Amino acid sequence: MRGMGDFAGKVVVVTGAGKGIGRGIARGFADQGAAVILCGRTRSAIDQVAAEIAEAGGQALAVPADVSSASSVTTLVDTVMKRHGHLDVLVNNAGIYLTAPVVEMTEADWDLTIAIDLKGVFLCSQAAARQMAPQRWGRIINITSIAQVRGGTPGHAHYGAAKAGVGALTKTLAKELGPFGITVNCVAPGLIGDTEMGQDSRTQMGDAYLATIPLGYLGAVRDVVEAVLFLASERARYITGETLHVNGGSHMA
Ligand SMILES: NC(=O)c1ccc[n+]([C@@H]2O[C@H](COP(=O)([O-])OP(=O)(O)OC[C@H]3O[C@@H](n4cnc5c(N)ncnc54)[C@H](OP(=O)(O)O)[C@@H]3O)[C@@H](O)[C@H]2O)c1
Repeated sequence: MRGMGDFAGKVVVVTGAGKGIGRGIARGFADQGAAVILCGRTRSAIDQVAAEIAEAGGQALAVPADVSSASSVTTLVDTVMKRHGHLDVLVNNAGIYLTAPVVEMTEADWDLTIAIDLKGVFLCSQAAARQMAPQRWGRIINITSIAQVRGGTPGHAHYGAAKAGVGALTKTLAKELGPFGITVNCVAPGLIGDTEMGQDSRTQMGDAYLATIPLGYLGAVRDVVEAVLFLASERARYITGETLHVNGGSHMA
């Protein structure tokens, strides 16, 4: 049983924890002693990650939830509070990446992307902040994208708009929640090669994308995990309203 580590005693909720970056973040916190709540819509996926964490000696609970539904998010946070009595860190990682040029985009494509990638961050942050504020301590970390600052690539206007919206939301949350000892920051990955979403982007963009990365290679899930663990730690206690770019420098391209 892991009781030691930077996050021993902390309760961490990770949305979209069933695969990709969210799975890596959940495992990273569990390795550092946190009790991790895994949220996602597909029960089998979050159960699998919970089993991996338990097998490695960590603590995890899988709670199926849809971040775009206020009632589902309320149930998620109620479950956390009943089980642990506190909620310390929220990582808003869940996201979708639909592809459609603006002239072909349906209203449903737009609405679904905004509902999950932007409204979901609002709903989860609101529900978590209501618990964190009386504790006078909390960390909210929003996984955005390089699209937060560069706009979505062609076919991803909705995604870019949602991620830029999360960047703005992060700043207001940081201002409102700072007095309660809660920091709110973004981690903005570039293309992360060892994820399905990253592989889709790579296929769509081709090798030309590599030329836009000063470091010259694609990021990996562990690069994002390290940034999230840092922002959640006491080492980052005086950082709020900030965006940490994890993209090999390509946000400058
Ligand atoms: N991979 C990249 O290259 C890259 C680059 C920049 C930014 N990002 C961002 O990083 C985050 C994670 O990306 P990823 O590559 O790991 O994506 P991924 O492999 O597609 O995983 C996304 C996760 O989000 C969950 N999810 C989707 N909609 C949800 C909802 N409504 N409620 C709860 N969970 C939901 C999915 O599970 P269910 O479908 O089972 O719900 C899945 O576990 C996203 O916010 C993405 O925009 C990724």
